[in-house]
Amino acid sequence: PTAMVKITYIEFNGTEHQVDVEEGLTVMEGARDNDIPGIEADCGGACACSTCHVYVDESWIDKLPNIEEMEKDMLEFAYSPDETTSRLTCQLTVTEDLEGLIVRMPEKQI
Ligand code: FES
Repeated sequence: PTAMVKITYIEFNGTEHQVDVEEGLTVMEGARDNDIPGIEADCGGACACSTCHVYVDESWIDKLPNIEEMEKDMLEFAYSPDETTSRLTCQLTVTEDLEGLIVRMPEKQI
């Protein structure tokens, strides 16, 4: 059986969604499959749109896999990116290490 990983998505208005996401999916797919607003993912996960942008909770910054060059470049096109906390959720694969992850959506996607 595939492990389920708890992830909390917090909308800009403060609404929290705690959901179980199947390991192997991306954090973006977890939001999409649970109809969580605030992550648009226009390019479908190809790291080509930046509309899956979130701010990860400070406590998670060091626990996530390093940001790749492509993700870093694409983040520059996101709405109001933050140098330390911004990530593209389509580039974050869900593993057991992400149990309890908290992400916050920006005021808007581009
Ligand atoms: Fe387009 Fe993540 S879904 S960059």
